[in-house]
Amino acid sequence: MFDKLNILTSNTYEQPFDVLIANTDTLELLKTIPSETVELIVSSPPYNLGKSYENRQSFKKYFVFQKQVIEECYRILKPKGNFCWQVGNYIEKGEVFPLDIYYYDIFKFDLGMKLRNRIIWYFGHGLHAKKRFSGRYETILWFSKADDYIFNLDPVRVPSKYPGKRHFKGNKKGQLSCNPKGKNPSDIWEIIVTDFDTCMWDIPNVKSNHPEKTIHPCQYPIELVERLILSMTNEFGIVLDPFMGVGSTLLAALLHNRKVIGIDKEKEYCDIAISRINDLENGILRKRELGKPVHKPTGKISQVPSEWKLPQQEKLL
Ligand SMILES: C[S@@+](CC[C@H](N)C(=O)[O-])C[C@H]1O[C@@H](n2cnc3c(N)ncnc32)[C@H](O)[C@@H]1O
Repeated sequence: MFDKLNILTSNTYEQPFDVLIANTDTLELLKTIPSETVELIVSSPPYNLGKSYENRQSFKKYFVFQKQVIEECYRILKPKGNFCWQVGNYIEKGEVFPLDIYYYDIFKFDLGMKLRNRIIWYFGHGLHAKKRFSGRYETILWFSKADDYIFNLDPVRVPSKYPGKRHFKGNKKGQLSCNPKGKNPSDIWEIIVTDFDTCMWDIPNVKSNHPEKTIHPCQYPIELVERLILSMTNEFGIVLDPFMGVGSTLLAALLHNRKVIGIDKEKEYCDIAISRINDLENGILRKRELGKPVHKPTGKISQVPSEWKLPQQEKLL
């Protein structure tokens, strides 16, 4: 961690800083940032979902604004930089609009960026749908600006499932076949419980019983962003969140010695972001640990209630 953070609040880009926070419309600050300054952009943009912080706009108007923001972000991204856009599905009258499919065109066809992964962020809970399958994932579109882009796999490897596995034929017969540093965490979803034994992005959503919960209605977990920071930036590189909310991206970056820029139009969220950064500096930030296994329910409520058991089942149990 930095010894003492230099926290700057300003609506124009100024140097030096460890943390630069702007309480304004995102385009106002973005336009002042010099080209090719930022190593990684990570954000969960406002979803047009009618949350308390936004007015409903038409879909078209929404994407006109988002495109302007993404173009400005692209300009300030370094040539080896990466862009991670975390979105879910917009639901209207039971119809699902997968936002990443709409965003893909902007990144790929308007800006010529290259998709490196479409990461599935799976979480095992949420609202129960009645006329379709319940939604349990969101995605992160990871684009790079060029073919030569920053990607450090080692800091985010997860333990191998069978570390003692050996080659069973060929000239390596008998030798250990796994990488002792662990395996690639993958982008694939599976329905198993812990991150380490599934190698899945199984990170609990930030809901009321999560240690990181603030008043923000749509916060993502710091742990989700830590993986992106560790694999897609180098120490002291600059990470930007153009819609920072209560600063989860900024905290993830500061935990790993990166500099950060965060923008939010709501003063209340900016204040909470600053207070969480102060908590981090003072060693009292409430946070889930990276890679901590997802809670497995135990106790009475995780068991089939006796009212549901058939007589034969009763005998077996
Ligand atoms: C989905 S939330 C981001 C939450 C964030 N990932 C976190 O963990 O706290 C989107 C944020 O964008 C902000 N926002 C919406 N439109 C904006 C604009 N034009 N300029 C700046 N911020 C904006 C909202 O206030 C909201 O906090």
